[in-house]
Amino acid sequence: MRSRLALALAACLVLAGCAPAASAPEPLRQAAGERLRIGTAVEGIHRSQALTEPAYRDALAANFNSVTPENQMKWSIIHPAANRWAFEPADEVVGFARGHGQTVRGHALLWYGSLPAWVTDLPDCEALRDAVRDHVTTLVTRYRGVVTQWDVVNEMYDETGRLRPEEPFVSRCGEQIVADAFRWAHAADPEATLFLNDYSAEAINARSDAYHALAGRLLDQGVPVGGMGFQGHLRLTDGVPASMADNLARFAALGLEVAVTEADVRMRVTPAWPWDAAGQGDVYADLLGVCLQQPACTSFTVWGFTDRYSWVPGVLQGQGAATITDADHAPKPAMFALAQRLREG
Ligand code: XIL
Repeated sequence: MRSRLALALAACLVLAGCAPAASAPEPLRQAAGERLRIGTAVEGIHRSQALTEPAYRDALAANFNSVTPENQMKWSIIHPAANRWAFEPADEVVGFARGHGQTVRGHALLWYGSLPAWVTDLPDCEALRDAVRDHVTTLVTRYRGVVTQWDVVNEMYDETGRLRPEEPFVSRCGEQIVADAFRWAHAADPEATLFLNDYSAEAINARSDAYHALAGRLLDQGVPVGGMGFQGHLRLTDGVPASMADNLARFAALGLEVAVTEADVRMRVTPAWPWDAAGQGDVYADLLGVCLQQPACTSFTVWGFTDRYSWVPGVLQGQGAATITDADHAPKPAMFALAQRLREG
């Protein structure tokens, strides 16, 4: 697969006639048709810098029919104090989506990684439970009808399949709080599909085993968990795990939807490491292919579509170039590879 695309691109370089046809990929949402939602995270912590740029807005509208606020719905941003909500940044993304025929993935209701001190300082489980009920109910109600998928629980388990030590909700209230959060979200919007979501759970491994077991326990109790999200933050050198298709299949066998929720393919960006843009395209296409081959896979979302705003260089030192367009929003081979793979169905 990888060598086929590399060969095709090499042929493009020597055959002059290839360049004009390859100068712009088919818009991704058009190539996707009805098969699945094709999404992207929309940059922003508070107001989105990206959404002020006409070129960004045009590419966002043309290529995607689903958007995920990258940070704007996280607890510390949208609910910074017990009685204070800051809806504007999220509303800005939601407004864009409404105006362009896009749905929204809500991200993320319960995540240890974005909690204001007022939540972590709550004195006991009872107070935490009240805060979670209010938080979940308020947000899911507000965005009913436009948020079609919610990440209810994000990054709960570590790589050994144990609860993360930093995770406060289950640590303090037991697994019941996860069941409750799903029930409160479902009561607020019965139409939204409610997800568990994590990274490095693409393979069959201890972490995905833990989610599979959790989903089974929740479903046995009648808890309205509806999907498992696989973030898909991959390294170019690792590619797509060989067991990912089987892993998605076992979640689908529980009756869940599955989704790729935060795809990017990062590489080391040092002068000694020449860009392998073609290889990156192959990894993106492989990841999308695993999703397309699984009938229960309902959406494929990239975690930002432009290197200008990618989270990778700021958080993962020495890594970058992880998205499908460059810093000027010009398509990289990865965008062509996704368009072609979508077109192939
Ligand atoms: C990241 C954002 O992209 C950054 O802007 C922010 O500084 C930290 O969070 N997994 C997730 C996302 O579920 O919420 C994270 O987003 C990336 C990893």
